[in-house]
Amino acid sequence: MSKPERYVFVCVQSRPPGHPRGDCVAKGSIDLLRAFQNAFEARKLWGRFALTNCGCIGPCDLGPNVLVYPEGIMYTQVQVADIEAIIDEHLLGGVPVRRLYPAADVWSNDV
Ligand code: FES
Repeated sequence: MSKPERYVFVCVQSRPPGHPRGDCVAKGSIDLLRAFQNAFEARKLWGRFALTNCGCIGPCDLGPNVLVYPEGIMYTQVQVADIEAIIDEHLLGGVPVRRLYPAADVWSNDV
């Protein structure tokens, strides 16, 4: 296996109904992960980039949340319609999608 250029982590944390933190699954992260997988398949991105599900990555109230490494860029409230921008602009183009950034007091993408 060659080292991927970037890793995309999609939070699929689930919690019991009524939990005070909520979770990304309740906000649609399973559909988001499936759509990412379909896009990776359709665009033949497997190998060059990695995509994986993960547990909670922090700001549950802002989910669905996505992290991209090695830059450590967090995207919040990501919708299926945002996937192409993340792929085209960030994964392929190397320029993160600033409109999907959380507030700086949540996670600072600019270091
Ligand atoms: S449940 Fe997804 S960030 Fe916490």
